[in-house]
Amino acid sequence: MIHRTQVGIVGAGPAGLLLGHLLHLNGIDSVIVEDRSREHVIDRVRAGVLEQGTVDLMTAMGVGRGVQHSGLRHEGLYISFLGQRHRINLAELTGGKAITVYGQNEVVRDLIEARAETGRPLLFEAEHVSVGGFDSSSPEIRFRHGGVDHALQCDFIAGCDGFHGICRPSIPSGSLTVHERQYPFAWLGILAEAAPSSDELVYTYHERGFALFSMRSPSMTRLYFQVPPDESIETWSDDAIWSEMLERMTTRDGWRPTVGRIIQKAVTPMRSFVATPMRHGRLFLAGDSAHIVPPTGAKGLNLAASDVLVLARALKEYFTDGRTEWLDRYPEVCARRVWKAQRFSWWMTSTLHRFPDENAFDYHRQIADLDYLTGSRAAMTSLAEQYVGLPAEVSFESAGL
Ligand code: FAD
Ligand code: PHB
Repeated sequence: MIHRTQVGIVGAGPAGLLLGHLLHLNGIDSVIVEDRSREHVIDRVRAGVLEQGTVDLMTAMGVGRGVQHSGLRHEGLYISFLGQRHRINLAELTGGKAITVYGQNEVVRDLIEARAETGRPLLFEAEHVSVGGFDSSSPEIRFRHGGVDHALQCDFIAGCDGFHGICRPSIPSGSLTVHERQYPFAWLGILAEAAPSSDELVYTYHERGFALFSMRSPSMTRLYFQVPPDESIETWSDDAIWSEMLERMTTRDGWRPTVGRIIQKAVTPMRSFVATPMRHGRLFLAGDSAHIVPPTGAKGLNLAASDVLVLARALKEYFTDGRTEWLDRYPEVCARRVWKAQRFSWWMTSTLHRFPDENAFDYHRQIADLDYLTGSRAAMTSLAEQYVGLPAEVSFESAGL
């Protein structure tokens, strides 16, 4: 079956769903093609921290009801080392900005509901998805859905299919440059039925390695700690996980996470990755399909949102008056923010993790780094303005909001 749309979107993660809704608000047609089931897409446990700008964007798009109602607004965070927590007052240092803890699951669920209300197509469980014809005026997405083969002809394709998707690998080799860094550790993360014992996140540097206290709701705690890169989750019993969490996180004043039943656990590898340029002919990459950051800076989902805001502006200008200036500028405008987020995520990761080849000099230097960070208003301001999110590249108005 042959169909036509203005923008074919591959992937129904945050990037694809946000882009689909931004285009809808501008009266631009799109079809979203997703290879997993609706349940799988919603249930995947991933990001939790939304920058101020991401919350503002969702609100301006009319999809902010859930985040306004159930999101947990945090005006500060803690950095913990040598058994002591040090608070960084994000709001005071950034003129009132904050982050909001609201699970990626909720973001995706809200956006899928909003998509359904628009009546525009969102196809789950598409099989054998492939893309091509980027240099022609009508690139195509091919897939099998409901037992029928489909060819979707588009004006443009948005590759929003994440790091393991098919869009980036469909670009001819030689047209992309990849910059990558692997880290010699991974995160073991859990979701536990336990009331958070702190109202704000706690990033811990411990001689046994990094640990992070976060949450999802007033009854759900989300915790992570650093493990070797090839660690198998099977080797960690729930008791062993709690004992390691408590060992690393408990502070001298007796603060520690509340222990509860573990309902989900997984090991996530850490990598920094940038593929440039984020455009090949009529294919535009956005979100994790083009770049990955280690999760320490909590930037991945937020970068996906800022990419698609720029892309929406570019597509709006093209479809309203045929101008291609912003389509042409898209790779360069996004790359500047991507590299700043890469730098921040690399810095947070390097500052808070233990590296296997470290010696005592490195340990003391790292403690001094943290001591300086938590004692200097200038250093805390630098962390705060990046953590809550740097200003958007384009105004909401220019993207039709
Ligand atoms: P994805 O969410 O990966 O979505 C891509 C979609 O494309 C998926 O639904 C996938 O099924 C689909 N797809 C893949 N292949 C195909 C295909 N062939 N055909 C059709 N569809 C396809 N970020 C933050 O901002 N803050 C945080 O606190 C944070 N914490 C994190 C914690 C962890 C443990 C992890 C793993 C990540 C975290 N991130 C965080 C990163 C964040 O989850 C990602 O950056 C975000 O999901 C990127 O969104 P995306 O839409 O680009 O890609
Ligand atoms: C989370 O809550 O999942 C989370 C919080 C902060 C991070 C990464 C993940 O840096």
